Amino acid sequence: MRECISLMKGITITGKWEKHSYKILKKIGKDGVGQVYRVYDPVRNNIFILKASANISTLTGEYAIFKQLSESNNQLKEYTPKVYELDHFVLGQNTIHFFIQEYVFGMNLGDYIRNKEKIQSHQVAKIGSVICNVLEYLDDRGYIYGGIKEDHIILDMYNDRISIIGFGGVAACGENIEPASHRIFSLGILFCILLTGEMVSVNRKLGKDRLRQLLKRRIHHAAWQNIIWKIWFGDYKTWYDVKQDLMGIYHSNVISFRRKSQKQEKEEKCFANQFVYFIGVGSLVFFFLSYIITH
Ligand SMILES: Nc1ncnc2c1ncn2[C@@H]1O[C@H](COP(=O)(O)OP(=O)(O)O)[C@@H](O)[C@H]1O
Ligand SMILES: [Mg+2]
Repeated sequence: MRECISLMKGITITGKWEKHSYKILKKIGKDGVGQVYRVYDPVRNNIFILKASANISTLTGEYAIFKQLSESNNQLKEYTPKVYELDHFVLGQNTIHFFIQEYVFGMNLGDYIRNKEKIQSHQVAKIGSVICNVLEYLDDRGYIYGGIKEDHIILDMYNDRISIIGFGGVAACGENIEPASHRIFSLGILFCILLTGEMVSVNRKLGKDRLRQLLKRRIHHAAWQNIIWKIWFGDYKTWYDVKQDLMGIYHSNVISFRRKSQKQEKEEKCFANQFVYFIGVGSLVFFFLSYIITH
């Protein structure tokens, strides 16, 4: 059900319980589970994310997952934005529920693809293993996350940080959780999109021949072809198994990527030296010639 609340840019809202005020800077979400705004808190002089909804149950569900992940004792807390208060305010006739979250710098992977920016193979492997870690944690606690997609992963290239968001549709299934193998498939679709750099339209019905063609034409790396093939035909039973193969790709790719960039750096340095040499010799010749002409 689509909700019709909309917060105007420039207005300030104040939470009923915590009394924190936020100025609405920009709407950034696409009207999924709730509405996402970039907001400014003048007291703390900081930018945050405000996620608002008239539907309290989906909002609190999402908040609870974020809270669990960001307060977990292991590395997972680095993979999701921190959440702060859950509160509400009244706007006209409506009570609007919201939570406040850390604003993560970077861009979601959907925007990377739409802007035609390249995501390196080792980064795709790292993104995949972060997703596997988060999903393994949620599965163990009986939560099903069906939101694996490019718009729910924020990549900050400068700080090398990957954040997973979009827990609005998480369902609590307890012991009756379906096997991970059913959901690993959406990871395969994500890999196809990230590795081809295009919103390729692929689905479960894609037969062996068409998948083979896609892999041959668009994804040349043999280890990636193998992973996608295994995902398509249900060979992975757990997130852990996928993660192991991804880490293999990550380590081999990161080494060759570093070697390549070191080589590139050397070539750039060599070019810079030649350039300086050329300018130096050029100016000497110029002064010499001008001296001869003027005397
Ligand atoms: N904490 C955050 N920091 C930065 N950007 C965010 C954050 N949370 C969401 N976004 C941006 O807002 C978009 C929509 O967020 P999402 O949680 O998927 O909302 P919806 O429920 O409307 O789909 C994301 O694709 C991302 O670009
Ligand atoms: Mg979303």
